[in-house]
Parts: sequence; C-alpha cells; structure tokens
Amino acid sequence: MTTTEASPTTPAATERSFPPGFVWGTATASYQVEGAVAEDGRTPSIWDTFSHTPGRVAGGDTGDVADDHYHRFREDIALMKRLGMASYRFSVAWPRITPQVSADALGPVNEAGLAFYSTLVDELIAAGIEPAVTLYHWDLPQALEDAGGWTARTTSERFAEYAEVVAAALGDRVRTFITLNEPWCSAYLGYASGVHAPGRTEPAAALAAVHHLNLAHGLGAAAVRRAAPGARVALTLNLAWVRTEGSRKADHDAVRRVDGLQNRVFLDPVLRGRYPADVLLDTASVTDWSFVREGDLALIHQPLDVLGVNYYSPTVVRAWDGSAPRAENDGHGDSAHSPWVGSTDVEFPELPGEKTAMGWSIDPRGMTELLLRIHREHPGLELLVTENGAAYDDVVVAGQVHDVERTRYLRDHLAAVLDAVEAGAPVRGYYLWSFLDNFEWGYGFSKRFGVVHVDYATQERTVKDSALWYASVVSRNAVPAVVG
Ligand code: FCB
Repeated sequence: MTTTEASPTTPAATERSFPPGFVWGTATASYQVEGAVAEDGRTPSIWDTFSHTPGRVAGGDTGDVADDHYHRFREDIALMKRLGMASYRFSVAWPRITPQVSADALGPVNEAGLAFYSTLVDELIAAGIEPAVTLYHWDLPQALEDAGGWTARTTSERFAEYAEVVAAALGDRVRTFITLNEPWCSAYLGYASGVHAPGRTEPAAALAAVHHLNLAHGLGAAAVRRAAPGARVALTLNLAWVRTEGSRKADHDAVRRVDGLQNRVFLDPVLRGRYPADVLLDTASVTDWSFVREGDLALIHQPLDVLGVNYYSPTVVRAWDGSAPRAENDGHGDSAHSPWVGSTDVEFPELPGEKTAMGWSIDPRGMTELLLRIHREHPGLELLVTENGAAYDDVVVAGQVHDVERTRYLRDHLAAVLDAVEAGAPVRGYYLWSFLDNFEWGYGFSKRFGVVHVDYATQERTVKDSALWYASVVSRNAVPAVVG
C-alpha cells in the first residue's frame, strides 16, 4: 500500500478533518447575481454602463436581470440552508445605498436600498447562515467614475462614508465586513487593460487607482470600526503564487516585478504601512506616485482582523526577449493594453496540463504556497479563503448536472487549504465561488462558476453534483483523503 492509499476498513484514514469551527460558505457579488438594476432607487454603476456598451461583454450580456437574486433571495437562502452552508458572502451595491453620490457629497441614504440588505441579513440569520458582507465588489456608482473614478481621491473619501452607513445599518447582525474585493482587478483591469469597467487604458491612472483603492480600504476600515466596533474588518485580495520555469536572472526579476504589482503593492501598505521601494522604481517611467500624500500610508495601515484570499490558478512568468510575440496567458482577458503596468517585457507562457473553461491552469499547490507565504510573512494574521472555484461548460441532463471536473477541482483545492492549515496557517474558513452561475464580468453568462446551475431563460435553479459533494464536506467538516 502506498502512502496515498487508505484502507477502506479504517474510516478515519479515508478523510482529513478541518479544525473545529472552520466556516464553510459560498460567495456571490451584487452585480453578478442581483439584477433589478433600476429598482427601488438604484442608479447606474460602472458595470451597467460598461455592459451596455457594445463590444465590451461577450454576447452583449448585461447584469440587468442576472440571477434575479434581488427577488429570489429567499428561495436561494432556503437552498443554501438545505445544503448546510454555514455562511454566505455577498456584496452590497453602492448605487443602491447612496444613489445620488457625487465627488463632493455622499448624498441621501436610500432606505429602500438598505432595507433590501437588512432583510437579506435577517433571512440568513433565520436560516442559521452567517452573513459576510463585501462593501465593494466593483459596482462603483457611475457618477463617481464621471468625476475620475478610482483615479480621484474623493472616491476613497466617499467610499468611507458609504462604508460607515452600511456598517451602522448592518453591524448589529453582521460580524465580518470586507472593505474591497480584489482591488488588483479594479485598478489594472479597469484602468490599464480596460477589460473591466470602466474600460480605461491609461497605465498611470491604474497606479493612481491602486493607491486610492488602498486608501479607500484604510479609510473604510476605520469607518466600519467607528460604526460597528464589534465587527471584524477584512480585505480580500487576489494574491498570486508567482513562479518561473526559466533560469535566467531576468526570469527571476520578472517574478519579483509581477509579485510587486500583484501582491506587495497591496500587502505592504495595508500590513506594513509602506509601498515597496522596488515597485516604485519599476513604475517610475509611468508615474512619480505624487498622488500619495503625506499621512496616507498611516491611514492605509489600519489593523486588519482577517485577510481574505482569492485563489484560482497559478501565475507563471518569464522575461520576454522579443524574439517571438509576447505570450499573454495571464488569464485576464484579451486586450492590446497590458494590465502589467511598467512590466511589458514580462510574458506569461501557456502552461501544459489541464485547464478550466476560463483557460486557467489548475495547480492546487498554489493555494498552499500562498497561504503559507502570508502566514510566514505576517504571522498571526487570520486568513479566510474568500473565493475559490472553477468554471466548466455544464449541461443539465434530466434535472442533474454531473460536474465531475468541478468536484475534483474543489476536492484538490480543499486538500491544499488543509495542507496549509496543518502546516500552521490560521485559515478560518472557505467560501466557494460561486453559489450560483452568474454574470462573469467580461465573459457575461458564457462561463459558469456555480455549484447551482441557473437557467437564465426561466431562472430555474438546478443543484449540481458538486454542490451535493460540497454539502457532504461541510456536514463532515472533512475532505476525502484519497486522491485519484
Ligand atoms: C474573481 C471575482 C469574482 C468572480 C471570480 C471568478 O476575480 O472576484 O467576482 O468573477 O473571479
């Protein structure tokens, strides 16, 4: 018997348990699932504008209706309950809360918008499901983009005021507030490569956005603490496990630079109160960073209760020597403009091996490496996996979806989380992306990440096999030990 085999007669050896109290959940985001974009006072976000601009989103899809979660949240929560989920991570749509916001003033609070989330929270709690709230998952009010968006400092200031409103309204029932989801995407995909809203392609603007998103996190964290002193404040980053298969000095330098742009430009100001010197140098030809004002880093460097980590796929880089067209398999969509500001001589080779329907390579080791790196560099910082999952081209056959590949992906990534936990990383929970198939940004409805299938014509929900498998993991607080 090899070490990876377990005897069928010893049940304990056939599964690996998570620590007691480990939180199991699923995640969604407002624009991806809610629909009801013109209801109860909501005004347009940058994603409404972007998705309604021809050529921006595959198939011309928009979030106008999406999963109609705004009207169907009760049945969705009932389904979560049936599957035994302990927590639900959702995001609040800023344009529902302060629909008249401008660069200068937050404007009046829209009680109907707040009431929607308050009811959602009540419904979750009644179902025994803990709400975890993301305050910003990319649906910036369009009026703020018209005033500069994340390139403008006023956006960070208004964000903090909005965060305070939401925390004051929900903080009596919500324990975890995540300020931002993946500021990397907001900044670089929104302002450099332009594959996300607002679709701008200005490298210097992307770095200004990085800073103002960091500032929004810091101001927002302080605002949440003022309004809800008992709450846990978190930030969710899509950190990358960056490596190279090259051996040249330039290949290792490419690793350092991409690590700087993706990981350290967020981690260092938030957790250490400084920008990494090498990133400032690498980007010196793009901007002088004069948008960083005195005192900003102290504002950004707030205590962080939990770091949310989103991990899907590994990042492999090498130096581009110009001898062949630059390989751009970074998994972040097609654009003539690189999101890798100041690092256009880095390339992202196509990797052999299995990929998901996004074309993303699968390597669960990255999950373990990432969690352990954060633990090493920031010991004591609690971690949550706030997203992980996979898109596949699912089909419903006789009311069932046999998504074997997704189940395998989840099983291997959960085992990888547990490897990190067993090596000491304080990972407190895992949120599967996503509960429902939904509007996958620039890919529209063409990519399905849900463990519950959605028929967009009828809004019918069909539980996929992976959801049933995940439910059994949740109920046992354990994953199967045998990999095969
Ligand atoms: C993440 C986003 C999430 C979803 C997944 C697939 O980058 O946070 O909204 O689109 O990717």
